Amino acid sequence: MNPIISVINNKGGTAKTTTVINTGDALSRLGKRILIIDMDNQCNATDILQGGMEKPFVKSLYDLIDPRGDRSDNENADIESCIYPTVNKKLHFIPNIPDSAILSPRIVLGGESALFLLRERMRNYALNNFDFTFIDCPPNVDVFVISALIASDLVIVPTMAGSKFSLNGLVKTKAFIDDIGDRYNADLKFLKLLITMVDSRTSICKTIVNAIRKTFLEHEVFYQTIPMNTDFQKAEVFNQSIFDYRIGAPGAGAYMNVAEEIIHSIKSKNNVLNP
Ligand SMILES: Nc1ncnc2c1ncn2[C@@H]1O[C@H](COP(=O)(O)OP(=O)(O)O)[C@@H](O)[C@H]1O
Ligand SMILES: [Mg+2]
Repeated sequence: MNPIISVINNKGGTAKTTTVINTGDALSRLGKRILIIDMDNQCNATDILQGGMEKPFVKSLYDLIDPRGDRSDNENADIESCIYPTVNKKLHFIPNIPDSAILSPRIVLGGESALFLLRERMRNYALNNFDFTFIDCPPNVDVFVISALIASDLVIVPTMAGSKFSLNGLVKTKAFIDDIGDRYNADLKFLKLLITMVDSRTSICKTIVNAIRKTFLEHEVFYQTIPMNTDFQKAEVFNQSIFDYRIGAPGAGAYMNVAEEIIHSIKSKNNVLNP
């Protein structure tokens, strides 16, 4: 099975977008076909994947999940017209636009069926055409995140090593994923937490990393952590992945190991996915 993976954390700045871009790029370098869906109307993943080209998107996530379909010729926006290529032949994306913020009340008013639009319009196509689909989620638990979880098989939660508030939030985030799974998507599974922005020189980082590993089971946390590394910010300025910016950066090796861990968890005997 080709998993659809939501990357969530209700806090901003925990490296959700960085994780989606770089794990996606790492998996593509291992020969996998990748689709990235930008669910955040701040459009950070879109900006990076668009690579600085200012061409407007004719169709986007907006058209795919609009319950009224008023921007689309056809209410059931054809998913193929919402998918765009990137400089990397193996990596495609569905962009977001800032206007999609207004879909939030529309989805609420549309009731439960509106929460299933992403799943209905994207899932089969993604499963048939891509090895991995990543959904980059906004920093909250609103209808966009719920729609993403309803459409997904697995969830990755990136968390910052340097914040003392992260641990409490993680327990709540995991409970939120369980609630959505119980109510709407029995196949949804929590994959792993990813500890990001680790500055191994500081004792606070070590304390927080140890506390996370004590609170969660071994298989619930990626063995690999992501180091604090200014190359990530520099890559972002040039709308590049860390691999395109500096393949030798420590962060590039770290995300490659995360990609390998994902492949391993999915293949392993204690398969996280149903066959
Ligand atoms: N490991 C890291 N080291 C240093 N900076 C990082 C790292 N990971 C992400 N960043 C930077 O932190 C900021 C927030 O990351 P981002 O992925 O946009 O978070 P989110 O999507 O969770 O809001 C970005 O400027 C990004 O370049
Ligand atoms: Mg983001």
